[in-house]
Amino acid sequence: MPGKAPCKLGVLVSGSGTNLQAIIDSIEAGQINASICCVISNKADAYALTRAKSHGIPVVIHENKGFTDRQGYDAVTVEILREYGVELVILAGFMRILSETMVNAFPNAIMNIHPALLPAFPGLHAQQQALNYGVRYTGCTVHFVDGGTDTGPIIMQSVVQVEQDDTEDSLSARIQKAEHRTFPAAIKLYVDGKIKVEGRQVRII
Ligand code: GRF
Repeated sequence: MPGKAPCKLGVLVSGSGTNLQAIIDSIEAGQINASICCVISNKADAYALTRAKSHGIPVVIHENKGFTDRQGYDAVTVEILREYGVELVILAGFMRILSETMVNAFPNAIMNIHPALLPAFPGLHAQQQALNYGVRYTGCTVHFVDGGTDTGPIIMQSVVQVEQDDTEDSLSARIQKAEHRTFPAAIKLYVDGKIKVEGRQVRII
């Protein structure tokens, strides 16, 4: 009997794409039953695009120039994702807030990774926020995207210890290592059909 068809992922990026790389590597290693149909970037010079191309993944540069509002930009993103038949959208360092146009098009099917243990330190510079606050532990969170900023149902979290002499850079590097394990693991749960969302609660079944 043939296995289940690979889940079609669309990955949105803005930067270096180390999380994208971790996901590509997990798929290529046969750990996740998925295929990346397209990588979309709002930045033409994002290194993530080079990573995608070197693995033969189609890339789309979709800049925000010419769009006066988020809805207009997102409507085009949704069109592109639909064109590629995307089932699960992955925000891997995508530095734009999504409008309801995107969120409603993919209900509980957009995943984001945030470099803190939400609900602590949402928004930008989460690692510096953690240092400023003086927490002993921080980490990363994979969550579904809803209408708020970093507020959607939490799928998976990993804890990272804060060291006395940490800088924003050293802490970010340690959190990224955790991200590269956590994001593929959360995507695997989803594609294996092991996630059930009940309101804010994500049950692993
Ligand atoms: C990660 O730290 C992630 O938590 C945040 O953006 C960064 C993306 O890094 N959302 P990369 O482009 O995957 O290297």
